[in-house]
Amino acid sequence: MTISSRPRLSIIGTGYLGATHAVCMTELGYDVIGMDVDVEKIARLRAGEVPFFEPGLGELLRKNLETGRLRFSTSFEEVAGCADVHFICVGTPQKKGEYAADLSYLDSAIAGLATHLNYRALVVGKSTVPAGTAARLADLLAALAPSPDVELAWNPEFLREGFAVEDTLRPDRLVFGVRSAWSEQQLRAVFAPVIEAGTPVVVTDFATAELVKVAANSFLATKISFINAMAEVCEVTHADVTQLAEALGYDDRIGRRFLNAGLGFGGGCLPKDIRAFMARAGELGVDQALTFLKDVDEINMRRRTRVVDLGFELVNDSYIGTKVCVLGAAFKPNSDDIRDSPALDVAASMQRHGAVVVVYDPAAMDNARQAHPELCYADSALAAAQGANLVLLLTEWSEFRQMDPQVLARVVAHPRIVDGRNCLDPAVWRAAGWTYRALGRP
Ligand code: UGA
Repeated sequence: MTISSRPRLSIIGTGYLGATHAVCMTELGYDVIGMDVDVEKIARLRAGEVPFFEPGLGELLRKNLETGRLRFSTSFEEVAGCADVHFICVGTPQKKGEYAADLSYLDSAIAGLATHLNYRALVVGKSTVPAGTAARLADLLAALAPSPDVELAWNPEFLREGFAVEDTLRPDRLVFGVRSAWSEQQLRAVFAPVIEAGTPVVVTDFATAELVKVAANSFLATKISFINAMAEVCEVTHADVTQLAEALGYDDRIGRRFLNAGLGFGGGCLPKDIRAFMARAGELGVDQALTFLKDVDEINMRRRTRVVDLGFELVNDSYIGTKVCVLGAAFKPNSDDIRDSPALDVAASMQRHGAVVVVYDPAAMDNARQAHPELCYADSALAAAQGANLVLLLTEWSEFRQMDPQVLARVVAHPRIVDGRNCLDPAVWRAAGWTYRALGRP
C-alpha cells in the first residue's frame, strides 16, 4: 500500500491511550492530528514533551514531530477538516459515588466532532465502555453529523502502562467491532502495517468488541485475586505462594503471567473496569453472572489491609510514633500513575494509624505529593529509610529489587521489612539481619 492510499487519522483525547496511539500511528507512516480540549496538554505535546511517564514515548514523539506528519490541535473543526478516520480515546472513569462508568467525556467528544463531519468518515471508539454504548453513540453520530455517510466502529485497546509503545506497535490482537464491510476495510487500511506483521484480527459486532475489553481485564483481575486468595491459604498453612505460582505456571493452560501474589492490583483500569462491568451486568439483569467479581475485588482490597496488619505486628502493635519508610507510590513499576495505587493507599492508612510515613518512588513523587500532601517524601530510598522503624516495599521498581540489605540496614532504626510484592530473596535479607515478612510466604 502506498502512503497516499493510507487514511489520514485524528486522535481525540491525548491522555495515556491517545497520545501513545497518535505517536505510534505516525511512526507507522500515517498523517496524524492529535486533539484535546486541554490546552496545556496540547502545548506540551507540541513542544515534544509527554505529560506522563512512559518509557520510550518522549523520544518517539520528538522524532515523529520532526517528520511534519504529526500535529496537535485543540479544535474539533480543524481535526474534522484533515482526517478520514477519527479515533476517540477519551477517558471513561468511575462515576463519583457509583460503580458505573462516567461516559460524559465520550459523549462530548462525539458531539464536538460530529457536527463538523460533512463528508464520508469513520469514527472509531477506543475507550473502555459498558456494552451497549457503541450502539447508542452510533445513533448520536447519525443524528448530529451533516453527512449521512458517517459510520462508527469499536476498536478496544489492550496496551499496558510501561509497555505502551511496544503494545501499540506490536499488539497481541486487533478487534474490529463493525457494522459494515466499508468500516472493516477502513480499519484494515489503518492498521495495514500491524496486520502485515502477522497480528491476528477478530472482526465482531459492537457488543462483542466492547465486551472483549472488559472481559480481558476481568480475567486478569481474577487471575491476580486467585493467586492472592491462595496466598491467604498459604499464610495459615505455612506454604510459599511464590513456589506455588511457579509450579502452577508450568502448566500451559494456566500460565505463569499475572500470578504474582502480593499487594494486588490498582491503577486506572482493572479496579474501575470490573466495577463498571458489575454495574452494567446489574442493569442488564444478569448480575448473578458477575457476582464472582465482587469476591475478586474484595480479595484484592483485603491485601491492602493485610499489609497494614503485617506492619502492625512488626512494630509491636502500635503505629503511634513509629517512622515507616514506604518504597513505591505508583500503582506499578515503570509508571508515574498513582490512580488507585495500592502503595499509596497503604501509606495513607498507616499515617492515619499514627505512623510518620516517608515515601520514595522513582517516578511518581509529584503525583503522590499532590494527592497525599499529608505524607512525607524523600529524594531516595536511603533517605526515606533513614531512622525508620519499619520499611515497606510496595511497588516493585527494579531499583528496589536490587537494594543491598546491608547498606539499608545501616540507615534504619530497626531492620524490619514487609515485602509487599514478593520480589526480594527472604534468605538474603534474613542473613543480613532483617526481620522479613511477606504476603503468602513464610
Ligand atoms: C491493564 C491491562 O493489563 C491492559 O491489557 C489494559 O489495556 C489496561 O489495563 C487498560 O484497560 O487500559 P495496566 O492498568 O497498565 O493494564 O496494568 P497491569 O500491568 O495490568 O497491572 C495492573 C495491576 O495489577 C498493577 O497494580 C500490578 O501491580 C498488579 N499485578 C499485576 C499484580 O498484582 N500481580 C500480577 O501478577 C500482575
